[in-house]
Amino acid sequence: MRHLTRFADLGADGVERLIGRALSFKSGCIPDALRGRILILLFLAPSLRTRVSFQVAMARAGGSTIVLEAGGGMWPLETRVGVVMDQDRIEHIEEALGTLSRYGDALAVRVFAALESDALDLADPFLNRIRAGAGIPVISMESAAEHPCQGLADAMTIREHHPDSRQLPVLLRWVPHVKPLPKAVPNSFLLTAAALGCRITVSAPLGFELPASVIGAARTLAAARGGGVTESADPDCGLEGQQVLYIKSWGPSGDPGKPPPSGWHPDWRIGSDWLERTPAQALLLHCLPLRRNVEIEEAALRNPRCRIFDQAENRIYVQQAALEWLWESGT
Ligand code: CP
Repeated sequence: MRHLTRFADLGADGVERLIGRALSFKSGCIPDALRGRILILLFLAPSLRTRVSFQVAMARAGGSTIVLEAGGGMWPLETRVGVVMDQDRIEHIEEALGTLSRYGDALAVRVFAALESDALDLADPFLNRIRAGAGIPVISMESAAEHPCQGLADAMTIREHHPDSRQLPVLLRWVPHVKPLPKAVPNSFLLTAAALGCRITVSAPLGFELPASVIGAARTLAAARGGGVTESADPDCGLEGQQVLYIKSWGPSGDPGKPPPSGWHPDWRIGSDWLERTPAQALLLHCLPLRRNVEIEEAALRNPRCRIFDQAENRIYVQQAALEWLWESGT
């Protein structure tokens, strides 16, 4: 039985294969493997794009979805092991999983990072428990460690503009926020862009470095395809040569939930003139949601080089490809 909760489930070859399938679905092919299937979407954190794009992906291919939200009509879930359940949590996650496994053909799950430590978030204990306990394939809709479907959609968006993305200059640029955010999206973007062989610069203020293990894994992936990964603490680092500008906020390194020790670096906000300092064809990407005029001045979002809605749309096709891959293994 296959699961897709982390980059390693696919590897670089799997990413290439799913992008190829996703591009064919965008051009009008319909995946047969989704017809008649039931996908259960379990949200333990809010969503707009992920929720709707999975529902659209299934509906357009003849499948159906059931959406369950924590606090939205489900019994409150207990997740601890060995606890005496005499308080307000009515159902244990183990019984919920056993039951859902009898109803659906796959389980899509969103959990957010605890933001207590990078090490704990990367270990992804809650999603891994769901993966181990579900009797059906599990697909991540974002976890503490990674957001693989977002990474695939980002890679597909790059591929649409750059059929050969090897050595493509890509900037993953930290931007300010009002609160610490998980590192799942930048982790997945970095790993997936590395799998495409891009030449990636990760630019973030001191104290906001991405986890060393993720940087190391991305370096290995990129090197195998002619690319590379470098880190910088300069907000304008190498801007002139970049072809893809991926902006995202994330929490401080090590202790991601703590307020940043040296503030939110408002000078790292993306100005409306920022794109003018890059090559004329450079793309501006962000996974959304974003906070206008905190992360980026809103005028920059109106630039035609801003492809955030392509990214959001491409979630539909990469998720169709991912579900086809999950179900082609015979489950
Ligand atoms: N990019 C993304 O996953 O969006 P949502 O949080 O709205 O699902």
